Amino acid sequence: MKAALCKSLDGPEALVVEEIADPEAGPGEVVVRVHAAALNFFDTLITRGKYQTKPALPFSPSGEIAGVVERVGPGVTGVVAGERVAAAVSYGGAREKIVIAAESLIPVPASVSFPVASAVSVTFGTAIHGLKDRGRVKPGETVAILGASGGAGQAAIEVAKLLGARVIAAASSDDKLEICKALGADDVVNYDAVDLKQALKDLTGGRGVDVVYDCVGGKYAEPAIRALAWQGRFLVVGFAAGDIPKIPLNLLMLKGADAIGVFWGEAVRRHPERHRANMIEVLRWVAEGKLDPRIQATYPLEKIREAIGILDRREAVGKIVLTLD
Ligand SMILES: NC(=O)c1ccc[n+]([C@@H]2O[C@H](COP(=O)([O-])OP(=O)(O)OC[C@H]3O[C@@H](n4cnc5c(N)ncnc54)[C@H](OP(=O)(O)O)[C@@H]3O)[C@@H](O)[C@H]2O)c1
Repeated sequence: MKAALCKSLDGPEALVVEEIADPEAGPGEVVVRVHAAALNFFDTLITRGKYQTKPALPFSPSGEIAGVVERVGPGVTGVVAGERVAAAVSYGGAREKIVIAAESLIPVPASVSFPVASAVSVTFGTAIHGLKDRGRVKPGETVAILGASGGAGQAAIEVAKLLGARVIAAASSDDKLEICKALGADDVVNYDAVDLKQALKDLTGGRGVDVVYDCVGGKYAEPAIRALAWQGRFLVVGFAAGDIPKIPLNLLMLKGADAIGVFWGEAVRRHPERHRANMIEVLRWVAEGKLDPRIQATYPLEKIREAIGILDRREAVGKIVLTLD
């Protein structure tokens, strides 16, 4: 079979595509014929040895795949050859066949394409885990999303709307806020042009927002916490701005508020059954036409260097997917 291989930690440019032996399924495992493997910014880091996960060389990048079960290992029940599946795999997806623990497989509805099924685990998985499992978002609540036009933020807008929330999207330019409106944001705030705390207060009649989904950190976190409603929840998702904010804890006490960490990858490892239920819900939304994940471009496996280059240059505005049909 063909595999994209990282044989040295010299970045995406050093990736090669080679023939390697087909894998075998051990107890509790299945071999999946990969039809699509999505790429993320962390694939640029993992090929340089700069990501928290450091696989032994050689390895294949791509942490989310979709395909068809080819062979089932000893002791596997409830999965049969020919089944359409998706999985979050951390790394190893950019190859024609991959061995995956049967418990990690998510069934893919017939109407959902493999590229789309491969591309929803990280962004939508984080959004539904963050907003539902951690943020306990209820219909009618107000959710403010910081960094709302980024990959994590865009998915959060759509998932928050599907959970019945009112969404206030915050980003740094009018162009970015237009993207947020097109995704369904009810209100928008340019946090580089106005006072974020005052804007969130004004948009909620002085009450404050129930939930903040913060993908950015830096200078925006504290004003957003100051704009929380009584018993609001501040979701710590990412630090795209680079700076990790230090927050005066009295702000939480005075509002009876929660600061809540969101760590999707670790949650998937510790609670695969919860992740599975979440992804079944996400793929059901896709099948019903309620979600339409944006695939920016697809590339054949052989063009993986070109595909990762888009992420490396921060030019991605939707998902970049490898196809292996
Ligand atoms: N906790 C988890 O489980 C989890 C899962 C997925 C992602 N994340 C994290 O969430 C964060 C966002 O991920 P993403 O995929 O949405 O990233 P992204 O697509 O690059 O978007 C990040 C957004 O952050 C804003 N930003 C503010 N200052 C920035 C700066 N100095 N450099 C770059 N962007 C800046 C930008 O919007 P504006 O210009 O509008 O400010 C940008 O749209 C990352 O830190 C990522 O590691 C966490």
